[in-house]
Amino acid sequence: MKSIVSPSLLSANFLELGQDVKMINQSEADWFHLDIMDGVFVPNLSFGLPVVKQISDLAEKPLDVHLMIVEPDRYISHFKKAGADYLTVHYEACTHLHRTIQSIKAEGMKAGVSLNPHNTVDLLEPVLADLDLVLLMSVNPGFGGQKFIPYTYEKIKRLREMANCLNPDLIIQVDGGVDNSNAEKLIEAGANALVAGSFVFNSENPSKTISALKHLQF
Ligand code: DX5
Ligand code: ZN
Repeated sequence: MKSIVSPSLLSANFLELGQDVKMINQSEADWFHLDIMDGVFVPNLSFGLPVVKQISDLAEKPLDVHLMIVEPDRYISHFKKAGADYLTVHYEACTHLHRTIQSIKAEGMKAGVSLNPHNTVDLLEPVLADLDLVLLMSVNPGFGGQKFIPYTYEKIKRLREMANCLNPDLIIQVDGGVDNSNAEKLIEAGANALVAGSFVFNSENPSKTISALKHLQF
């Protein structure tokens, strides 16, 4: 089965956001990846609920929302109302991760947990069976256009082994520095969802680049 491609709108042209949403609708992308940053959990601010809602009104594909915020529990129901389908929180931002995951699912969304590059996938073992998705950060979160961290391959392999026992349907998503130099290796290692921001939006033909990621033909 082909992997899921989720272009990150963080690198889109915000003055022409509607055009980029339509481009993704018409492309071979599977989801929209929306990066929410609060300037506290990460040293950057992005966009918030009203923008997510407007994207949701135009989007014809699931919204994959990546929360890089502290205290995500406060906003779970708000993101549901804004149109999120997948809601991913950071392990590092959750004191009661099990409860947070249950709250996301209780709202009717798919639940994801993200790990920063320095954290081991073994931390997720106790909750793995409850999750729909694990997002492995392959850069330090906060900015698009950073360099891919190669240790991510080891983490994917280990996580896929764990998932084979505990949750065979788990989606393993990789986010940060994904491009034509690593996409195929990431899928070989056991990932089945790729996020790409700058690689897609800085390319001459973003729709074609999305197809290239989908078919791993560059
Ligand atoms: C970074 C975000 C990413 C970002 C990826 O903190 O989580 O989704 O948009 O951008 P690229 O693909 O340029 O590394
Ligand atoms: Zn992201």
